[in-house]
Amino acid sequence: MKKSPLYAVTDRLNIRQFGLQDMLPFYEYRANPTVSQFQSWENFSYEDAELFVEKQMNHIPNQPGTWFQFALALADSDLLIGDCALHTPLNEPRIVEIGFTLSPEYQGHGYIHEGLKALLDYIFRTLGKHKVIAFTDVRNDKSIRVLERLGMRREGHLLQNYMSKGHWVDEYQYAILQSEWLID
Ligand SMILES: CC(C)(COP(=O)(O)OP(=O)(O)OC[C@H]1O[C@@H](n2cnc3c(N)ncnc32)[C@H](O)[C@@H]1OP(=O)(O)O)[C@@H](O)C(=O)NCCC(=O)NCCS
Repeated sequence: MKKSPLYAVTDRLNIRQFGLQDMLPFYEYRANPTVSQFQSWENFSYEDAELFVEKQMNHIPNQPGTWFQFALALADSDLLIGDCALHTPLNEPRIVEIGFTLSPEYQGHGYIHEGLKALLDYIFRTLGKHKVIAFTDVRNDKSIRVLERLGMRREGHLLQNYMSKGHWVDEYQYAILQSEWLID
């Protein structure tokens, strides 16, 4: 099978492009209701997974006006265990947004922290971005802990900022500047 391009490596993870081998594990965790609880999607189907993976296999990061999804795979087996998103807005591509998801089986071991640290290095050092932001549902304690453990600052509480499962939901906006990340 063709090797998927690699964007970063950590002790336990390869952060790489999505490939066809990711279809089933991606579908399985995205369709899990505990994973979608604080996300906009519901009833994620295998066809949704196929469309998503095929699009991401042919995409490249840092294209203004698009989302790129990095696959997080175990370094030893290359098994997909999660993903991290990078949104590069059209109107201000120097400020980017991230998102992240981990398969429930692999939660509680620091994998997202490890993957996001490498991704922030890639975003600030390789892509040279000015600021990274992230939004989280105010009820999503695990996500809040991930963002604060990375040193991201809560910059806002946005009332009824997105529609989830038929209800308007509050979000926190978190952020970190390139100048803050590169001090470490
Ligand atoms: C948000 C989400 C990725 C967090 O996953 P997670 O496994 O809690 O996060 P990490 O991989 O960084 O692991 C951190 C946990 O592992 C523990 N841990 C165990 N071994 C560790 C290690 N070697 N290194 C670091 N942390 C370790 C930490 O103590 C921490 O637990 P705590 O939060 O109870 O203190 C996950 O809950 C998820 O995918 N949720 C659904 C999608 C979602 O809501 N995404 C957020 C959108 S904004």
